[in-house]
Amino acid sequence: MAAVRHIGVLTSGGDAPGMNAAIRAVVRTAVARGLKVTGIVRGYTGLIAGDFRPLDARSVSNIIQLGGTILKTSRCQEFFEPEGRAKASANLASAGIDGLVVIGGDGSFQGLHLLATEHDVLAVGVPGTIDNDIYGTDFTIGFHTAVNTALESIDKIRDTSSSHDRVFFIEVMGRSSGAIALVVGTAGGAEEIVIPEKPVDVDRLCATIEAGRRRGKESFIVVVAEGAADGGATAVAELVSERLALDYRVSILGHVQRGGSPASYDRTLASRLGVAAVEALAAGETDVMLGADGWGTEIVPLPDTWEKRGTVSGKKEDLTLELLRVARITGS
Ligand code: ADP
Ligand code: F6P
Repeated sequence: MAAVRHIGVLTSGGDAPGMNAAIRAVVRTAVARGLKVTGIVRGYTGLIAGDFRPLDARSVSNIIQLGGTILKTSRCQEFFEPEGRAKASANLASAGIDGLVVIGGDGSFQGLHLLATEHDVLAVGVPGTIDNDIYGTDFTIGFHTAVNTALESIDKIRDTSSSHDRVFFIEVMGRSSGAIALVVGTAGGAEEIVIPEKPVDVDRLCATIEAGRRRGKESFIVVVAEGAADGGATAVAELVSERLALDYRVSILGHVQRGGSPASYDRTLASRLGVAAVEALAAGETDVMLGADGWGTEIVPLPDTWEKRGTVSGKKEDLTLELLRVARITGS
């Protein structure tokens, strides 16, 4: 197999703080190895449209601290179709790009796997999503920043919640994952956390509030992952308020969780995985994701990233249950 000489890089799916740090690491690693680098604008949309721009070491100066993605991102319907992926492959070939790095979530990886297998494109993924829902990596790029952002809001809501003796149902993002809710709820001292991985237990929520009241608690924070129930925190609040007299409010934190300057962990993770991605391509790897495992990196087959759960050493599932246990003891 001929060595990679020209790398393309794109960001896809929901943006995540730290994507810029990953782009920077990919570009700088490629340049350091004497490889050409091209940025592809707006993810798979730009790949199909041929919206390419050359990148050099200086094009990624002063971006490590920026949220969002300088390459922009998109969700692209056309890439779900074989014809769309054929156009993408033809555009890569005509630009002379022989290796592709995609920074995105598991949806982006499903598309990338099809591109790599249908068209023999050398392609690797870097996990970039606030949801932390990808197998094979301790954390995804953007998760820690999103957690910190949500936590700041929860600390503020606690002030008003305790002044008014209210119950707050706070909805955080995460699609079908409860990872953000679990960490934010534990770190924010929430009385309860509702996650998609467990059925909504209205009896339990009511019992927690009633028991807290008996012990003199006057305000409560319930963190609800958006995917925990149809209708999210609003629906959960309605279910509880049908059973208990409550002065309650619902607060949906929303897209604020996607923005902002990346936390140090996300910048470092992005730098590590960006370097590892180019090194993996140069070593002939394809159809894989680069994941973090402690201070090391793992090379994980792309299909594993959405088909399996947890980390390579299998601890993430256990951590979910353990965090729920810790949050319930410490938040009581
Ligand atoms: P994320 O990568 O953050 O999980 P999405 O699930 O929205 O975000 O996926 C981003 C894009 O990846 C989609 O808009 C589409 O272009 C592509 N994609 C997702 N799933 C597939 C699939 N099964 N087949 C082909 N392309 C896909
Ligand atoms: O995958 C990241 C994420 O922010 C999810 O947490 C959320 O469900 C979704 O994207 C929101 O997508 P959109 O930006 O299309 O509203």
